[in-house]
Amino acid sequence: MARRKKIYEGKAKILYEGPEPGTIVQYFKDDATAFNAEKRDVIEGKGVLNNRLSEFFMTGLNQIGVPTHFVKRLNMREQLVKACEIIPLEIIVRNYAAGSLSKRLGIEEGVQLPRPLVEYCYKDDDLGDPLVAEEHIAAFGWASQQDMDDIVSLALRVNDFMSGVMLAVGIRLVDFKIEIGRIYDGDFMRLVVADEISPDSCRLWDIETGEKLDKDVFRRDLGNLTDAYTEVARRLGVMPKTSTPITKPTLIN
Ligand code: TMP
Repeated sequence: MARRKKIYEGKAKILYEGPEPGTIVQYFKDDATAFNAEKRDVIEGKGVLNNRLSEFFMTGLNQIGVPTHFVKRLNMREQLVKACEIIPLEIIVRNYAAGSLSKRLGIEEGVQLPRPLVEYCYKDDDLGDPLVAEEHIAAFGWASQQDMDDIVSLALRVNDFMSGVMLAVGIRLVDFKIEIGRIYDGDFMRLVVADEISPDSCRLWDIETGEKLDKDVFRRDLGNLTDAYTEVARRLGVMPKTSTPITKPTLIN
């Protein structure tokens, strides 16, 4: 079989040319990085879990009418997505203080925010993805004011969906990051949720114990990352085929 053309390799994924024009194959690696790749490791099984989990979240979003780039999962590590032009911003939504917000503003981690906060970071590894304001985004032409309004409403819909899905399995969605892409259709342009949604890009805390079930386990050396992601997948009923199926509760007559 002819080798596929690699389009881009990032820290956690590789993009290949898809089978048809306008499609891309997104391959999930086992590589984990933090602090702009200063800390790195290979975590066996992470790519398989994130492929499944991102499929689960993106499919759910598509079903409630939040457009995403996701088409279908192809195999354990790959999914077919629509090609899009990624807006060079990381969109962060926060429900509880944590991470860089806690550091920046001196708010203790875990404090509930008065309302969900949407922040933008400019995607540039050399600069360490700095926080930017709408003023910068408009002035430098990364997105228009209309785009930003649409991005905020998409991000808040993703937040409502993800918060509800997580709450139902005893997990608090503390914060998350998404990326948005543009898809051109003739004269029209639409914005879609792109990249991935997985425990690599969210903060997920067990509601009862506060146990961290996301990439902070790796960032902060808190234990086994695969175990944490497997627990999220198990609770959501999203398990790789090779894993032990979740036992169904016995029905009592
Ligand atoms: P932060 O508190 O470090 O700014 O992170 C906010 C959220 O964004 C958190 O859920 C982790 C996620 N995130 C990424 O997905 N990629 C990144 O490069 C960073 C810094 C954070």
